[in-house]
Amino acid sequence: PRNVARGADGALVVAGLDVRTVAAEFGTPVYVLDEDDLRSRCRDFRSAFDTEDVYYAGKAFLCRAVVRMIAEEGMFLDVCTGGELAVALSAGMPAERIGFHGNNKSVAELARALDAGVGRIILDSFEEIDRLTALARERGVRPRVLVRVTVGVEAHTHEFIATAHEDQKFGFSLAGGAAATAAFRVLDEDVLELRGLHSHIGSQIFDASGFEVSARRVLDLQAQIRDARGVELPELDLGGGFGIAYTTQDDPATPQDLAKRLRRIVEAECLVQRLAVPHLSIEPGRAIVGPAVFTLYEVGTVKDVDGIRTYVSVDGGMSDNIRTALYDASYSATVASRASTVEPLLARVVGKHCESGDIVVKDEFLPADVQPGDLVAVPGTGAYCRSMASNYNHVPRPPVVAVRDGRARLIVRRETEADLLALDVG
Ligand code: LLP
Repeated sequence: PRNVARGADGALVVAGLDVRTVAAEFGTPVYVLDEDDLRSRCRDFRSAFDTEDVYYAGKAFLCRAVVRMIAEEGMFLDVCTGGELAVALSAGMPAERIGFHGNNKSVAELARALDAGVGRIILDSFEEIDRLTALARERGVRPRVLVRVTVGVEAHTHEFIATAHEDQKFGFSLAGGAAATAAFRVLDEDVLELRGLHSHIGSQIFDASGFEVSARRVLDLQAQIRDARGVELPELDLGGGFGIAYTTQDDPATPQDLAKRLRRIVEAECLVQRLAVPHLSIEPGRAIVGPAVFTLYEVGTVKDVDGIRTYVSVDGGMSDNIRTALYDASYSATVASRASTVEPLLARVVGKHCESGDIVVKDEFLPADVQPGDLVAVPGTGAYCRSMASNYNHVPRPPVVAVRDGRARLIVRRETEADLLALDVG
């Protein structure tokens, strides 16, 4: 996070608060959110994309306090399940600022979104067009919708988080003609208001050329729709997926750069196609919340394995950060509770779960005197860590603490064994 530094005795201080104080008060593991950092990233996106709408992708991390923060910062919100919608609404997010995604929204979820009056629904299948048409007709409402287009871009990221190549479950294929058919079907349904097209090519993307190809292809479809039906769709959403730095090797674009590039390509393509430039929106999740959080763990055991490397076991693991095991993601780690001048050694930070894939940080140099009781911080865990956390091995999920101006505020409490047992009704 932006507001982290070493204090006088070498321990990390976040937004004016010593991490040892956070650990003493809330226990470990704990996700520590630098609130001003999160807010400043919202503002960076909002000022770079000042004439566009910025939807925070809630799947990265959602709780009521964060909904309020992003709403205060003028963001819109993307949700993709009834559960995320419920959190958003219960935090007072204005429904008209919510977009509803998902490749398999249930009839109940669609009905709830209509009843709440969400600002837009992103259509993902022909069944969904039929379902939403029926529900809207029953209710006498005319929801605003986008059609999600699969543009056939191979995004350079992990296979599981790329979403625009042809062979996957999201959206309507452009190449196969389904996207055009879907747009025409929606235009023919007078109870649906087609606002535009949507494309999301994947996540943790650094190469902006994927967005350029995608923008060009959706605008080509937009021109085909105009030619066939005489309508120019007023909006275009280019999705999220902007990469963040997990280690010093990653070099992400600034929101300013992204805004410039996306606008330039959309304007150029609109000129070629003789289209009016549509109102743009984007959906960053990771880039807003990812860097604003670090996980604080306590070291339990330290094991040197035949001089190959040292295994530093912490009190969490794949249940609070599945990303290393699932995507082979790279993280870094640092001893947070003190400074050390001892030579570094090659360490692997592992968790307490019963499998050897339970790795938090694959390779990191930690001081050779790393020992039980030390606090270890793993930065960049704001996105897709708490939101993908599990109870594997009946490990209760950690709390989230927001720190600002030297004060800590619990925003998601730690799960307890009682919480776990409460579900076990057999
Ligand atoms: N919009 C749509 C339609 C999406 O599907 C996603 C992410 C986003 C926006 C936000 O993407 P972001 O800006 O956060 O990259 N669990 C994976 C990431 C899955 C992303 C799913 N969709 C991970 O931990 O890397």
